[in-house]
Amino acid sequence: MAGQTLRVKELRPVFTAEQIAGRVQELAEMIDARFGQEPLVAVCVLKGGFVFFSDLVRCLRNPRLELDFVRLASYGKSEVSSGHVHFGKDVEIELCDKHVLVVEDIVDSGRSMRFLLDQFAARKPRSLSLAALVSKRERREANVVVDFAGFDLQQGFIVGYGLDYAEQYRALPGIYEIIPE
Ligand code: IMP
Ligand code: MG
Repeated sequence: MAGQTLRVKELRPVFTAEQIAGRVQELAEMIDARFGQEPLVAVCVLKGGFVFFSDLVRCLRNPRLELDFVRLASYGKSEVSSGHVHFGKDVEIELCDKHVLVVEDIVDSGRSMRFLLDQFAARKPRSLSLAALVSKRERREANVVVDFAGFDLQQGFIVGYGLDYAEQYRALPGIYEIIPE
């Protein structure tokens, strides 16, 4: 998808709000089954992860859950992240000896998550895992295991439920594929 000049012909429904809610509840049950009542830090990857994160953490039953936020940035403006990912904002909570669950909207090339997981692994968490609402396979370059994957998607650029195209469409309750003109 080239630059910001793309004209959108249609938003084609991919996942409804109801489908997403059902899947988020299932993921929360898997995460609770994995961590029980052990100290768990859920880390939201801003901005795209914020809707998924807020729904997911409210389904979790872990009484020792802590929440924190990171913002990742990559040099360059294209939708394919460049190799140079860095922190725009780091977490504030100590991760050492805690279970850490990264919560991301979508894993595409995998470069952003490879960077974040490597950074966090160096802080010696008790465990480190990744929840992503969507795992998109087509352009995967980095080796990233999505421990809790909501939906698999082969291809296409999607928006809604936190995901944007040029900062638009994040607030849509469902997920849609952008069909260009
Ligand atoms: P990656 O580093 O290539 O895995 O890219 C990750 C980031 O690119 C995601 O966190 C999203 O912000 C963005 N991204 C990748 N694919 C899509 C998409 O289909 N819609 C919206 N954003 C996307
Ligand atoms: Mg993201």
